[in-house]
Amino acid sequence: MPAETLQETITPEQLSRYARLIYDRTGIAISPQKRTLLSNRLRRRLRETGIAGYDAYFQHVSKLRDTDPEWDAFLQEITTHETYLFRDEAHWKWLRETYLPEISEAARRNERQRTLRVLSAACSTGDEPFTIASCIAGCVPNASQWKIEVLGTDIGVGALEEAKTATFNERSMKLVPDDYRRRFFTKSPSANVWSAKPALTSMVRFRQHNLMNALAERPFDLVFVKNVLIYFDKPSKQTVIGHIGKLLVPNGKLVVGAAEGVSDLLGDYQRLQPWLYQKQ
Ligand SMILES: C[S@@+](CC[C@H](N)C(=O)[O-])C[C@H]1O[C@@H](n2cnc3c(N)ncnc32)[C@H](O)[C@@H]1O
Repeated sequence: MPAETLQETITPEQLSRYARLIYDRTGIAISPQKRTLLSNRLRRRLRETGIAGYDAYFQHVSKLRDTDPEWDAFLQEITTHETYLFRDEAHWKWLRETYLPEISEAARRNERQRTLRVLSAACSTGDEPFTIASCIAGCVPNASQWKIEVLGTDIGVGALEEAKTATFNERSMKLVPDDYRRRFFTKSPSANVWSAKPALTSMVRFRQHNLMNALAERPFDLVFVKNVLIYFDKPSKQTVIGHIGKLLVPNGKLVVGAAEGVSDLLGDYQRLQPWLYQKQ
């Protein structure tokens, strides 16, 4: 039966199997209220793949690897990629006015090396890592003489492909300070698109990663995990926080979104702000 003429209504049992699959693979908990939304989204995948039933699509999608285009399309239906540069003002004020001046001064006094590694986890289309890079370029004197790496990761392959283009529309740019726009981005004359300049792109790289798994990377001085764990339940948050603990250098800082709901899982950290923690 072609998917266009699909009469089948998804059963609660089928929906539960899908919700379980999503949870097991991504940590995202689909609440009972979201199940109608999920069934509408699944119908769209059936229509687009031409697979004629919910069981058949389940059989297909559950065998796919994280990097398979259909798995990615399936995930796109259930994840939100909402992001923009300089989202959550307080975080960037702290980065620009406190953290970066402090490490620059420490380097000037030869109390630390001129190196900095930052992780932007669940970075979606790259707005967050490019915000971090622009703060570094704007606030670290002679940044080009430092060894700086900003790694952006996300589970979504399509989102990362977009991130790698280092281009942003006017909506994404709305909170970028005027002097940063001028110094670190160029606007294409034909379209309303801003491109990050080499001063930023040379610092940033991207890699696909599922937060539920350990990330094989050297430790970072600073980790951002924002607007993603809100979709996870407690055991999944715990798994992610466990992995992140191993990714931070001693005294490394962790910035979390205001609604992440992880404060009770960060007992081993020193709380500097409701959204800022330091590894002990
Ligand atoms: C709302 S965006 C947040 C973007 C950015 N951090 C910000 O605050 O603007 C959430 C991102 O989390 C990603 N995501 C969801 N589950 C994930 C997982 N298990 N591992 C890695 N990324 C995940 C989604 O693909 C999506 O791009």
